[in-house]
Amino acid sequence: MTREEVVALLDALESGEIRAAQRQTDGRWVPNRAVKEAILEAFRLGVDLETSAGPLAFRDKDTLPPRRPPEGVRVVPGGTAIRRGAYLARGVIVAPPAWINVGAYVDEGSLVDSHALVGSCAQIGRRVHLSAAAQIGGVLEPVGAVPVVIEDDVFVGGGAGVYEGVCVRSRAVLAAGTILTSSSVVFDLVDEREIRGTADAPLTIPEGAVVVPGTRGASGEWARARGLALAAPVIVKYRDAKTDAKTALESALR
Ligand SMILES: CC(C)(COP(=O)(O)OP(=O)(O)OC[C@H]1O[C@@H](n2cnc3c(N)ncnc32)[C@H](O)[C@@H]1OP(=O)(O)O)[C@@H](O)C(=O)NCCC(=O)NCCS
Repeated sequence: MTREEVVALLDALESGEIRAAQRQTDGRWVPNRAVKEAILEAFRLGVDLETSAGPLAFRDKDTLPPRRPPEGVRVVPGGTAIRRGAYLARGVIVAPPAWINVGAYVDEGSLVDSHALVGSCAQIGRRVHLSAAAQIGGVLEPVGAVPVVIEDDVFVGGGAGVYEGVCVRSRAVLAAGTILTSSSVVFDLVDEREIRGTADAPLTIPEGAVVVPGTRGASGEWARARGLALAAPVIVKYRDAKTDAKTALESALR
């Protein structure tokens, strides 16, 4: 790829014309390999460039500088960086400091709270609340890997983390401190089932599930003798009016 082609692709990402992954009619999210390849190319072609803002100095690839907030997006002053090739829709609010990386897509009315990460290519739906210190991991390689997806109206609690291509379906709630990776086993107390990711389908949190951080006994006699337990995300219920009230965002903040 040429620099011009990379620039054109980053422009198309910023305008929302193309995105790093697309939801299919059957609900599957399919990564766009061309986008991922172009982003990797942007890193390869980029030349280290020193820039500054007041007394602060930086050195980074010249192909991937911070971008300016688009019209209709509120970025509260103080330490936030939104990288080139990230898309933010109208009505998005970003509290400082936050880091929104290349290829990320943040849809209308979502709130990215203080110390939150929206990693490379992460797909964030409409009216999502990423609470303080929520970490949405980036996925760039391999190019065929699906990024982390957070669908519409999801609430991600403070300090929660979603990594490695995990998909959180609409209206789900991740309680503060819940950590999900592709290897997590989620225990659903309501439907009495275990939810796992497979080679073909990423770990997917069902629509409206309320997931809290729990533990399970570690396997093996040795572990049992020592009372060891492993982290285990647990679905304690499916979203109801009480959950809505707990996670509602004051409209005056918008
Ligand atoms: C998930 C959350 C919204 C609670 O939802 P809720 O619908 O009110 O949940 P309920 O109180 O009905 O709890 C249902 C069950 O889950 C348990 N539970 C709820 N939240 C829990 C948590 N965070 N950790 C462990 N267990 C939890 C309750 O004890 C209850 O268990 P029980 O039935 O055995 O008594 C809340 O725990 C939470 O994480 N809030 C987000 C806080 C936050 O991050 N704010 C943003 C700051 S910027």
